[in-house]
Amino acid sequence: MIPHAVENFDEINLDGNQCMDCHSGATYQKKKAPKIGDSHFIDRQGNKLTEASASRYNCVQCHVPQVDAPPLVDNTFKGDAARKSVRKN
Ligand code: HEC
Ligand code: HEC
Repeated sequence: MIPHAVENFDEINLDGNQCMDCHSGATYQKKKAPKIGDSHFIDRQGNKLTEASASRYNCVQCHVPQVDAPPLVDNTFKGDAARKSVRKN
């Protein structure tokens, strides 16, 4: 989850990725932001890379902002854990 607002950022595309302005290995200390996860430096073959893997470029495919909103659909599910088992062996 992304704990900060993202709606003012430009769309991530070939020309730019604003997320990396703050979260890349080169910038995170200056921006006081957490560095992208260690797993982001490993490619699909398991090789360690010095830069983030291209497969991680589209950050928002996995990371989504947190919203404080009521659920879109009410959930009427009621647990039934106390019911006695009717199964007989
Ligand atoms: C202007 C700098 C900046 C930009 C741009 C930015 N972030 Fe962040 N991000 C931060 C900071 C600072 C934090 C630390 C938490 C906080 O204080 O909000 C953070 C926290 C996070 C975290 C939580 C990390 C953790 O350890 O829990 C995620 C995930 C994240 N950002 C993803 C993104 C994504 C994806 C984008 C692009 C859409 C983005 N950020 C753009 C500065 C930035
Ligand atoms: C394929 C899914 C995926 C993509 C794409 C991805 N992430 Fe992550 N990210 C994760 C997962 C899962 C974690 C937590 C485990 C880990 O650190 O690998 C994480 C962790 C993080 C953290 C926290 C690291 C820490 O040490 O707490 C930050 C910051 C972050 N990602 C930023 C980004 C940014 C910025 C991008 C885009 C450049 C990005 N991620 C792309 C899945 C993804």
